[in-house]
Amino acid sequence: MEQKVKFGIIGTGAIAAMHAAALEAAGNAELVAVYDKAVERAQKFAGDHKVRAAESFEAFLADSEIEAVTIATPTGIHGAVALPAAAAGKHILCEKPLDVTLEKSDAIIKACHQNNVTLAAVFQSRFGTAVQLLKKAIDAGRFGQMVLASTKIHWFRSQQYYDSAGWRGTWELDGGGALMNQSIHTVDLLVYLNGSPAEVFAYTDTLTHTGIEVEDTAAAVVKFKNGALGTIEASTSCAPGFPRQIEISGENGSVLLEDDRILRWEFTEELPEDAEIRANGAAGEGMYGGAGDPMAINYEGHRRQIEDLADAIINKKSPKLPGQEGRRAVELICGIYESARTGKPVKF
Ligand SMILES: NC(=O)c1ccc[n+]([C@@H]2O[C@H](COP(=O)([O-])OP(=O)(O)OC[C@H]3O[C@@H](n4cnc5c(N)ncnc54)[C@H](O)[C@@H]3O)[C@@H](O)[C@H]2O)c1
Repeated sequence: MEQKVKFGIIGTGAIAAMHAAALEAAGNAELVAVYDKAVERAQKFAGDHKVRAAESFEAFLADSEIEAVTIATPTGIHGAVALPAAAAGKHILCEKPLDVTLEKSDAIIKACHQNNVTLAAVFQSRFGTAVQLLKKAIDAGRFGQMVLASTKIHWFRSQQYYDSAGWRGTWELDGGGALMNQSIHTVDLLVYLNGSPAEVFAYTDTLTHTGIEVEDTAAAVVKFKNGALGTIEASTSCAPGFPRQIEISGENGSVLLEDDRILRWEFTEELPEDAEIRANGAAGEGMYGGAGDPMAINYEGHRRQIEDLADAIINKKSPKLPGQEGRRAVELICGIYESARTGKPVKF
């Protein structure tokens, strides 16, 4: 039987259900325990998944059967639980974003390094089949000079969503709004696919929600280090919410993705596999979503990422998405916020 890494979940709120389902489906990982500071919520969750609930964080960390943890607390609390977890020798899968600022994200990366535990940052969209096909085509140089790399995240979150938990829409615990919480997956794909930004200029605004400190809409213009230009349109105010789009265009080809479906895949030099990629890619795998409802996603991306982390732990190698990769989207988004605040372009 394949070796299984034993996981515990910290924070048994909305996304934890996805972690539990992904762990149950993973071939090389399993859920053994949970902890939430709302003890009754943890007990109910533990009962549903037939695992144990720790009565205190100290007891959870002292549980030697737990080899790795997933962090599913509000974002601004990721570091507060990750640092002691790393010190207790637990490997970590940390939900996006790593934390609300670059400094706090770096503290998690440093603590994991110092304690010699493996850190993986959740960005499950990177594990999509279409994204991987596109990454391969980019790495093979099929686009030539990159020209435009842009994304539209015209999503929708109701007022009730923001009202559903006190931390949502706050700078301290959410770290930002439409960008830092929802669109960060797609911003991450942009830097993963097209490389790091050189400079950004942006506007942000709060157009339709009340009682939140953060933006529900943002528009940014990016100049990338590879010379390409691009735009990021991000919102949680666009009813009813369309699937996210990413469009990458080079001098020799252009590709358009909607979620993990390939809408256009065209190159001046056609390869034999292109027709099949177009035919199969258009169907997608139904892996993503969340355009109008945060829970309208399935666990397949998390399953792939958990299996990758468990494989890294078992075979003592780096996961595909280590902490350093997880900080890249946080860096760009913090630059967008700074530009919107100061009215000036921000260089990286
Ligand atoms: N990858 C994705 O697609 C995805 C989707 C949704 C949320 N998320 C991320 O998951 C995280 C949690 O979001 P959510 O929507 O599940 O939030 P939530 O409010 O539904 O759940 C958070 C849980 O953490 C618990 N908690 C708070 N402080 C704690 C502490 N100190 N120790 C232990 N437990 C504590 C709360 O009691 C609550 O049960 C956020 O960082 C969010 O960005 C990721």
